[in-house]
Amino acid sequence: MSVNRGKWSSDFGFILAAAGSAIGLGNIWRFPYTVGQYGGGAFILVYLAFVALIGIPVLLAELSVGRSTERSAVGAFKKLVPNSWWPAVGGLGVLCGFGILSFYSVIAGWTLRYFYMALGGRFGDAMTSDESTQIFTELTANPTAAILLAAAFLVLTALVVRGGISGGIERAARVLMPVFLVILLLLVGRSVTLDGASEGFAFLFAFDFSKLSAAAVVSALGQALFSMSLGMGAMITYGSYLNRDDNVPKAAVTVAFFDTGLAMIAGLMIFPALFHAGASPTGGPSLIFIVMATIFNTMPFGSMFAIAFYGLLAIAALTSTISLLEVIVAYFVDEREWSRERATWVVTAACFALAVPSALSFGGSAFFTNMFGGTGFLGMANIVFGNYFLSIGAVLICVFVGWKWGIGNAVAELNRGGNLRAAAVWGALVRYVCPVAVAIVLIYAAFTGNYL
Ligand code: TRP
Repeated sequence: MSVNRGKWSSDFGFILAAAGSAIGLGNIWRFPYTVGQYGGGAFILVYLAFVALIGIPVLLAELSVGRSTERSAVGAFKKLVPNSWWPAVGGLGVLCGFGILSFYSVIAGWTLRYFYMALGGRFGDAMTSDESTQIFTELTANPTAAILLAAAFLVLTALVVRGGISGGIERAARVLMPVFLVILLLLVGRSVTLDGASEGFAFLFAFDFSKLSAAAVVSALGQALFSMSLGMGAMITYGSYLNRDDNVPKAAVTVAFFDTGLAMIAGLMIFPALFHAGASPTGGPSLIFIVMATIFNTMPFGSMFAIAFYGLLAIAALTSTISLLEVIVAYFVDEREWSRERATWVVTAACFALAVPSALSFGGSAFFTNMFGGTGFLGMANIVFGNYFLSIGAVLICVFVGWKWGIGNAVAELNRGGNLRAAAVWGALVRYVCPVAVAIVLIYAAFTGNYL
């Protein structure tokens, strides 16, 4: 076992890094378009219930396993229950991290290109939605551009992860998270003072329960897990670098609060701007690329806000890809005793190989674009890893902590340096509510073909 695995310098450092992991494209890209598709406020209410009843309990479960063992996803299970099948749950998580990183880096790569275009003043002039669609299509369908951008983003990620825990990941989070927050608040300030902003608020806070279909409930759960980086051992890994006397319950609630709060704030940024421009909130995944690009010219200093917006996206994505890469790297460092440097570059190269088909699935290659009945390679990777693997992982982690390792052990760990209030409620949530609720959603999704 490698002795010197690294540590966060303080629980504040951990909170920044973990919040950086949680806050990502999930908050600024996925959350607003999902809210848009499922009708606004009522969906948000269900989402909040899932964060409280499932997200926070699973987050505490993962962190307790991580800190107690000081091992990453696979090693943690090995240490608690040697000679069992449980380490395979960690293995599933490592695989899932690999899968998510491969398609996430493609979308993250696009943000780099949009940022670059914004710097060149591209979004300062009037742009029709046809022109905007064309820009998006030309970029995403260009095989060389899409592949090179994903590679660039992976290299950026690797440069941080190779620096280790406090010297690489924490240091990057200490710079990037405050910058992120300042830019976001600036953008929200701009957005909420636009004409038509009130329509955006009305949409965001409309409790139209008739739109709350089963599919919406399913999406809300998937979104809660994805957004909080749960279900694949990312928080086991980050938790393994905590100090013995750090207050874990407090840190977990803080991270959940920031992740959820920033998703809401992202909604406050996007929807008033959309309604100001007369655009539809139901635009789906291309919302922040195609629709947002057309509205900057309608604002004073629009070019500047475009730079801020795409810069913000790139930063949010980076602190998330860092955590995804770290899960895999930590496995090779802990279990295979590779040096961090070697693990980082080998894993990055392998991820790049898997990112290529995703990068080619927006027109770059007809084969990867049309496969899986038109879902495409990236679309399928998103469904399989981003929804199914995470949900299955969340169930297994709850079953492990609730029934195998034991609530008593986990509570003792969480109380070291902290004070877990309502420990009995948490135990019941981990043992019964979370596994049953997530399992129902999984079965529902499998039987209806409604892929979260
Ligand atoms: N939570 C990130 C987002 O919202 C994505 C992410 C990073 C993630 N690490 C993860 C998702 C681990 C699931 C598991 O964009």
